Amino acid sequence: MTCRCILRCVHDNIQRKTNKWNSLHTQFRYFHVTCQKKRPLVLGIESSCDDTGAAIVDESGHILGDALYSQHLIHLNHGGIIPPIAKDLHIKYINPIVSQALERAGVTPKDLSAIATTVKPGLPMSLMVGLLYGTKMAKEHNKPFIPIHHMQAHALTVRMVEKVNFPFMVFLVSGGHCLLAVVKDVDEFYLLGNELDDAPGEALDKVARRLKLRNIPGYETLSGGGAIEKMAKLGDHLSIRFPVVMTQTLNCNFSFAGLKQRAQEIIQEEEQKYGIVADEIIPTVANFCASFQYAVARHMIRRLERALIYAEAKGFIPERPKSMVLSGGVACNEFIRDAVRQVCNKYDYELFCPPPKLCTDNGIMIAWNGMEKWIAGKGITKDIDSITVENKSLIGKSLIEDVENTRIRLRNPVKLVQNKDASQETTS
Ligand code: KG4
Ligand code: ZN
Repeated sequence: MTCRCILRCVHDNIQRKTNKWNSLHTQFRYFHVTCQKKRPLVLGIESSCDDTGAAIVDESGHILGDALYSQHLIHLNHGGIIPPIAKDLHIKYINPIVSQALERAGVTPKDLSAIATTVKPGLPMSLMVGLLYGTKMAKEHNKPFIPIHHMQAHALTVRMVEKVNFPFMVFLVSGGHCLLAVVKDVDEFYLLGNELDDAPGEALDKVARRLKLRNIPGYETLSGGGAIEKMAKLGDHLSIRFPVVMTQTLNCNFSFAGLKQRAQEIIQEEEQKYGIVADEIIPTVANFCASFQYAVARHMIRRLERALIYAEAKGFIPERPKSMVLSGGVACNEFIRDAVRQVCNKYDYELFCPPPKLCTDNGIMIAWNGMEKWIAGKGITKDIDSITVENKSLIGKSLIEDVENTRIRLRNPVKLVQNKDASQETTS
C-alpha cells in the first residue's frame, strides 16, 4: 500500500468520526496533501503520429492518471494517415486529454515536477501540436521541460513494470519502425539495425487493406496487423511460399517492401484465379495470412539472430540472464512474440514484452521516460525555446556499418517450424 493510499484511508476513516476528531483530521489532511506533492510526478504528452496521449507517473512507475484519444478509426476510413487531419485532431483533443489525465491523477499542474513531451521522430505537424502545448504549459506553470525521443521511450517503457537492468537488447516493431538497439543507459543507445523501407506494421496494414479484411464481420475495427494475426490462426503458414529476403546483406537492417510487393502480386493472382470481384475476398485468405505473417516473422528473427551474435562478440550484454525487450504495436502479435522467444531461448536471453497497452503509442511511456530522465538528472532542457521537432532521428549512435563489417553468417538459423518447409530455410 502506498503512502498515498494509507493516508487516504486514514483520512477517510477520520472523516467519519465525531467532532472531537476534527482537528486531528485537519492535520492528517494537510500531511496527506503535502506528502503527495513532494513525490516527483511527471506529466507525459504524446502526439507523434495518430494518438493523442497524456499521463502522470511517479518515480516507482505508478500511473496516477492517463488518457488517450486514438485517431485509428478515422485514418482507417482514409486508407492511411493524412498528416493535416492528424494535426487537426491533435489540436482538438490535446487539451481535453491532458486535463482528463490530470483530473484522473487528482493533481494540478502545480503539483508536477516536470513536463515531458515527444519531439522526435514523427509527423512534424503532429509533433508540433504536442511541443507547443507542452512548452506553453511548462512556461505558464514554471516547470522544467523534458523533450522525449519516441523510440527511446518505447525502449524504456518495460522498466516501469519489470526489473530490466541496463544494458539490454531492444527490438522495436511498429507501424512506423523496425529497429534493433543496445540500451546502455537512459541516454545511451546503440543502433544495430533499422528499417530500410516499410516497417512491418505498415506492410501488414497495407496487405490487410488489399485483402479487404475489414469486410469480414468481427474484423471491422482491427488494426491491419491484428486482422492478419486473427485470420492467420485459421490457416497453414507453410501453404504459400514467400521469398527469404536480404539473404546476401550481412547486416541487421530490415526490408518489408519486397514481401509486401510479393503479397500484392499473389493476391492479384488469386483474385484472377477465383474470379473475385468488388468487395469479395479470396477463398485462400487464411492460408495467405498465415504464410505472410510467417514470412514477416522469419525475416525479423534472422536479423535478430545476427544482432545477438554481434552483441555477444562485442561483449555488449555481459550480464546473465541477458535481457531482451520486444515492444511496439507489432509486438502484440503472438506468433511474432513466439518466434522472438525461440531466438531468445537459443541465445540465453530472457524475453520481456510490456503489456499490449504499453506496447502501442501512449502518454504513459513518455511520462515514464521523462521520469527516468528526471531521476537521472539528464535531458532536462535549459532553453525551452530552442527545442524543435524532427521527422527522422536515429535512436542512438549507429553501429550498422560495424555489424556489416563483422560479416556474421547464420549457419544454422532458428527454424520456426520443424519441418515440411526445410528446403525453404536457406541461410542469410
Ligand atoms: O506502436 P504502434 O501503436 O504505432 C506506431 O506505429 O508507432 O503500432 C501500430 C502498428 C500497426 O501497424 C498495427 O497493424 C500493428 O502495430 N499491430 C499489429 C498487431 N496489433 C497492432 N501487428 C501485428 N499483430 C498484431 N496483433
Ligand atoms: Zn510508437
